[in-house]
Amino acid sequence: MFFIKCLVVAVTLCSVTIDAKDWWENEVFYQIYPRSFMDSDGDGVGDLQGIKSKLQHIKDAGLNCTWLSPIFSSPMVDFGYDISDFRNIHHEFGTIKDFEELSAEAKRLGIKLILDFVPNHSSDKHEWFQLSANRTKGYEDYYVWVDAKGFDKDGKPIPPNNWNSNFGGSAWEWVESRKQFYLHQFAIQQPDLNYRNPKLVQEMKDIIVYWLDKGVAGFRIDAVPFLFEVEDLRDEPRSYDPKALPNEYAYLLHPYTNNLAETYDMVYQWRAVLDNYTKSTDNVTRIMMTEAYADIKQQVLYYGNDTTPGAHFTFNFLLITDLNTNSTAHDFMFTINKWLSYLPLEYTSNWVLGNHDNHRVGSRYGAQRIDGLNMLLMVLPGVGVTYYGDEIGMLDTFISWEQTVDPIGLNAGPDRYQLFTRDPERTPFQWDDSVNTGFSTSKNGTWLPVNENYKDLNLKNQKAASFSHFQLYQKLMVLRQEKTIRDGDLNVKALSDNVLTLTRTLTGHDSFVYVFNLGGEKENVNLEPYTELPSKLKVELTSVNASVSFGTTVSKSGFTVGPYEAYILSAQSLLSSSTSYLDTLFE
Ligand code: GLC
Ligand code: MG
Repeated sequence: MFFIKCLVVAVTLCSVTIDAKDWWENEVFYQIYPRSFMDSDGDGVGDLQGIKSKLQHIKDAGLNCTWLSPIFSSPMVDFGYDISDFRNIHHEFGTIKDFEELSAEAKRLGIKLILDFVPNHSSDKHEWFQLSANRTKGYEDYYVWVDAKGFDKDGKPIPPNNWNSNFGGSAWEWVESRKQFYLHQFAIQQPDLNYRNPKLVQEMKDIIVYWLDKGVAGFRIDAVPFLFEVEDLRDEPRSYDPKALPNEYAYLLHPYTNNLAETYDMVYQWRAVLDNYTKSTDNVTRIMMTEAYADIKQQVLYYGNDTTPGAHFTFNFLLITDLNTNSTAHDFMFTINKWLSYLPLEYTSNWVLGNHDNHRVGSRYGAQRIDGLNMLLMVLPGVGVTYYGDEIGMLDTFISWEQTVDPIGLNAGPDRYQLFTRDPERTPFQWDDSVNTGFSTSKNGTWLPVNENYKDLNLKNQKAASFSHFQLYQKLMVLRQEKTIRDGDLNVKALSDNVLTLTRTLTGHDSFVYVFNLGGEKENVNLEPYTELPSKLKVELTSVNASVSFGTTVSKSGFTVGPYEAYILSAQSLLSSSTSYLDTLFE
């Protein structure tokens, strides 16, 4: 008997260790686009002091972590993703001192700061590029330089292959002084760094440590799939995408420039840098989240392989790439399960609803569905990612060709810019109904125009209203602290084309049911297929447009859900029991 008791104790202890989650595993990460969050000095561009002054908003929302799009020195061709000094702050955003103040204030409020690490390229104004273009000793191979394939009859150099840039046009740019092409998989002003050069590899690791020393909690890593290219520079094959023009990125497939084996290895090396830092300091995990739009089997490799850990998570973009306003509940069920089917069980799941490269959630799915989607994000297991403004349901802003500043939009030209431009989802955060929506005191406008819906759609209104997107968001963040939402099982069922449902269940704890009517007609929802649920359910949370209010009891066998309404119901699970299976076994 003693032996059995010990065994029980051992099993219990063991399960405690396995259960214990690290700080990041149930967090919602809030993405700030620094140019558009808050402007402190009236120049129409957001900045670090602005962010500092609004950190309380992040706290109010119930969030504890934020990741900032790049804040480093930059000529701003790609709005900070073209970095001319990886160790300094861009002048419009402030100084290192401002960063330290922001960091101290975040720490005081208990908010973790994550920075954007942009390893694939620098700005062409970076000192390294100037040195490399001149073949200065030690810097010759910091970038990917290649001879011309030949010269045409006018003496014009011919690029080494057919590779296209993500921003349109050839991925190769000629430098007359060096008489070679350099590779740029994004803008011409964003030359690709050469990861086959060990000196460059070390240089970038030192930059990671530099910011860790400044107290950051980790990094979002930009454009990871592009780090390495095949050495023989083979042409890439045609995609036969009927919508793509020959000079566009989608015209080709990218097996020779994306997701090479060496690229995963570099991510694993960065993980080692973070882990070593953690071990040699305070044992607090420094996290890495990677950006890779890729096939799901390639994507999960960024998490690591059987022997070596990689990113803590690689963004799951399926809610952006695979679903939209036309998706049915069956599509949602399929997509959610797709991610979970490929993700190895030991990894933490994550769900991204929006970012600075994609249209706003309300514009992709329809404004009526914003609450239903924020609710979905919050009840799915693991990590969530919210793009600034999605907590108040901001929408895309119309940006004319004349107002367009995004390089990918500019390269596409006036006829096609709207297919590519990312300006609409990057406009200022809508704080209130005052001038420039409270974002800036500028008299000369803001870097991108404020959405004209700001008089109604702003944070101040949503705080004052009896119920709003923001108030729902706050309640969802509280709900997420429930153990069932943190640790419970997930079961997704499409009850019809329009009715998406899921349950979260955990033995010994309340169950939660999510119900979303995606369609414009009212639906009678019957939850009988969930045998584990009791016959009566309590309404915990609702979308703003809901007709049934909190606290109401509804029947499992049938209740009416109006157009675009979403609900979170709770139930004492039939799975509940105060004694565990092991307890009964050894009683
Ligand atoms: C990533 C960023 C995007 C940027 C590109 C080049 O995809 O999210 O905004 O333009 O990398 O750095
Ligand atoms: Mg400013």
